[in-house]
Amino acid sequence: MIYLDNAATTLKKPEQVIDAVVYAMGNFGNASRGAHGYSLDASRMIFGTRQKIADMFGCPGADHVIFTSNATESLNMAINGIISPGDRVITTDLEHNSVLRPLYRLENESHISLGFVPSDRKGCLRLSDFEKLVTDRTKAVVCTHASNLTGNIVDIAEIGKIARRHGALFIVDASQTAGFVNINMEKMNIDVLCFSGHKGLMGPQGTGALLVRDGIEIRPFKTGGTGVQSYEKSQPAEYPVRLEAGTLNSHGIAGLSAALDFISATGIDKIEQKENRLLRRFYEQVSGVRGVTVYGDFSSSLHAPVAALNIRSVDSGEISDCLFREYSIATRPGAHCAPRMHEALGTREQGAVRFSFSWFNTEEEIDIAADAVKEIAAKY
Ligand SMILES: Cc1ncc(COP(=O)(O)O)c(C=O)c1O
Repeated sequence: MIYLDNAATTLKKPEQVIDAVVYAMGNFGNASRGAHGYSLDASRMIFGTRQKIADMFGCPGADHVIFTSNATESLNMAINGIISPGDRVITTDLEHNSVLRPLYRLENESHISLGFVPSDRKGCLRLSDFEKLVTDRTKAVVCTHASNLTGNIVDIAEIGKIARRHGALFIVDASQTAGFVNINMEKMNIDVLCFSGHKGLMGPQGTGALLVRDGIEIRPFKTGGTGVQSYEKSQPAEYPVRLEAGTLNSHGIAGLSAALDFISATGIDKIEQKENRLLRRFYEQVSGVRGVTVYGDFSSSLHAPVAALNIRSVDSGEISDCLFREYSIATRPGAHCAPRMHEALGTREQGAVRFSFSWFNTEEEIDIAADAVKEIAAKY
């Protein structure tokens, strides 16, 4: 089987990630819940992982790294914990439903006002549209670093400057870029960074993080046991326990920790170069094929390792099924939880077949996938 659905989750993980999870399941107690060795071992591992994440993403300190179960939880925490009734928020057509749905709910229930930076037919945003929409009354800009459909990368460093200039907080969804490109919260003016651990970071499912800059108050959306300040009636005010009620997923976090070591040892630049090479190899083979439409903007040198396409007007589900049944190639059809992006591309009805690549894919696999697309295109 050739697995090309890495934007949903990376299937192949480094061996040491699996070993770390197995070790954790046999050896770790409940972190911060006891003074015995099993609990302390889990606590040390968790603290160490916070530090690795803080170092990798330019976060002010390990205590400002909050573990979550995925990017959706991180984004819900950030959006619901920062935005108040009556606020204005600027976001974009590129967003995933994990940004859109929390914002739509606040629009309905708390009467916030939303401004959308529009996408063009290639899935690109214009920085000048952010300038036009962000006002001094804007509470936050919420923006993805890359579209999970087209793979287009957004210039978050420039958007960070615009948000900062207008006193708006900048919340970034790095689900498709964490582990693939270098991100530095400090340098890019990012106030809150959200991502999953199971995609480009190659960690286990059920892991994710929210990173918050100093001085930003996020209201906790869940309260409960933290192992500290147990006689206080309210949730402790300090990060990370402010946002971490309940037992942490130390088994998954141990796997994520090993994945971060793998990425650091390999080098993010090297990962970006390899995945980009695979992407270009695929794009060059399929983009000129009669009847094939590839979406997105491939003119920029930086592009997430994602290519979405359609074959004539055939339903994307039919093509994706055919790829799996006849060629054993796993891709993702349909809407990809990115409704506004599909509207902008004009693919609402058809959806699109998304191919997404990882560090573990090979050039041979890319060529087989491209040949399959050519064959299917000739058949329909
Ligand atoms: C851009 C983007 N944001 C958020 C998410 C949500 O990630 P998760 O399902 O791990 O919460 C995804 C998942 O595909 C994504 O691609």
